[in-house]
Amino acid sequence: MHKQPSKKYRPFPPVSLPDRQWPNRVLKHAPVWCSVDLRDGNQALAVPMNIGQKLELFQTLVKCGFKEIEVGFPSASNTEFAFNRRLIEEKRAPDDLWLQVLVQAREDLIERTVESLVGAKKAIIHLYNSTSPAQRRVVFGKSKAEIVGVAVRGAQWIKDRLPRLKGTEVMLQYSPESFSATEMEFAKEISEAVMDVWRPTPKRKMILNLPDTVEVAMPNIYADQIEWMCRNIKNRGSLIISLHTHNDRCTGVAATELGLLAGADRVEGTLFGNGERTGNLDIVTVALNLYQHGIDPKLDFSNLNPLIEVYERCTGMTVPARQPYAGELVFTAFSGSHQDAIRKGLNEWKENGRTHWDVPYLTIDPRDIGREYREVIRVNSQSGKGGVAYLLESEFGIELPKDMQREFGPIANDEVDKLGREVTGAELKAMFWREYIERARPWELKRFETESKNGVVRCRAKFLRDGKPVELSGEGNGPLAALVHGFSKIGVSRFEIANYSEHALSSGEEAVAIAYIQIKHADGKTRWGAGVDTNIELASVRAVLSALNRS
Ligand code: KIV
Ligand code: ZN
Repeated sequence: MHKQPSKKYRPFPPVSLPDRQWPNRVLKHAPVWCSVDLRDGNQALAVPMNIGQKLELFQTLVKCGFKEIEVGFPSASNTEFAFNRRLIEEKRAPDDLWLQVLVQAREDLIERTVESLVGAKKAIIHLYNSTSPAQRRVVFGKSKAEIVGVAVRGAQWIKDRLPRLKGTEVMLQYSPESFSATEMEFAKEISEAVMDVWRPTPKRKMILNLPDTVEVAMPNIYADQIEWMCRNIKNRGSLIISLHTHNDRCTGVAATELGLLAGADRVEGTLFGNGERTGNLDIVTVALNLYQHGIDPKLDFSNLNPLIEVYERCTGMTVPARQPYAGELVFTAFSGSHQDAIRKGLNEWKENGRTHWDVPYLTIDPRDIGREYREVIRVNSQSGKGGVAYLLESEFGIELPKDMQREFGPIANDEVDKLGREVTGAELKAMFWREYIERARPWELKRFETESKNGVVRCRAKFLRDGKPVELSGEGNGPLAALVHGFSKIGVSRFEIANYSEHALSSGEEAVAIAYIQIKHADGKTRWGAGVDTNIELASVRAVLSALNRS
């Protein structure tokens, strides 16, 4: 890196807008959305989508509720042209969908683009040329007036060809590409020059798209630029002001949200932010951010998982694990205190019937977008006993008593810590089995029988103690009391049963029961044990041996 960055880079000049209004506004409704997945998203793929993939993604976007979709750059290649023709000829676009196509201000390209739209119900022709000082100087070597000339000629060539699209409802769109790096006065001048050609009216508006082609400033600057344009451009009432942000500084979403506060009506972007470099605006995030504020986003993201599957299959991209809303880990709590808070919040939500969502750490109810509560709790070395207990219960129906959770939680955490990674529910169950169920030393059960007479239960049992046979008999008011008595008769240090619970682990003829028993020794020390058997009496005897074996 440069030792003195100020010698190489300079701050972005602020927009002079001392009475800016956008910071005091709040968003109240969804904008018009336009997906540019099939154009901006597609052009940025290492392997662009083939027609089959584009068709699949197109149908998926329609299902999400997009009413405007930029389907491509028909003059750029035969594939792009053919795709557009298929959509139109096979009537794949619903009647209320605007098919948007992008074109540069070149007559031959405009000719081919118009040709690609014949027979469409509704079409948006999107003309662009780049306007920033660097683009004018480096790429085109043209003056401001010459750059305006390019835009005006392009606008005229399109206008001249509109009669060829009889029967098609056409909307026109102009983008001064690299708008956010362009002087505001010049952005206004060139946009108004295009408006002079197209002559939009409040009834027949044109779209003025103001792209943050490359993020070069903080999002408040973009908002100022949008408000400046909304307030200064002529005939604002004849325009649909549109945002198109990229994500170079990781603030594409913020820039769009502030741009909406600043007066924009429409938003272009892609699913999960696919697009050039760091990507386009992630429409899913902006839509679900609105949803989180109680605003109907007018896009249906109620089942994100299949949407992610289609997106990944068609584009070859992957949705990162931390992607807002869509990432695999965003509804997952690793920390014990987070898990605990989420559990309490979810219980309160279920039991108290709150009207508005207010669960710690979960910005929205994962089920609203087709995600699972199961994803909320996973276990690593930072997890508390709550996460461990949750996984054992939700995956295997093992309902550890609260006090036993306190004993097993740290044991599991130690093992997870040694592994140095997150563990699955099955691994946790194996740890539990090793710790409680599979211990056969010093005590191993061979036989246990009881008989009951006049309210007194007598037991006779055979064990191995460190591999050597031992027999005992005892009596009490139940099998466990008889067993404890029998142990005291053969000289095992005194203990009592402090806690007991059991439940079925499976159903049917070969139903298996699990028993949890806490024993308390004469010195006050306690130990939990657990036993599993098809016979509940034997499960509890095994649980006593497990507790003794752990003492
Ligand atoms: O990022 C951009 O400026 C574009 C334009 C073509 C709108 O994609
Ligand atoms: Zn773009």
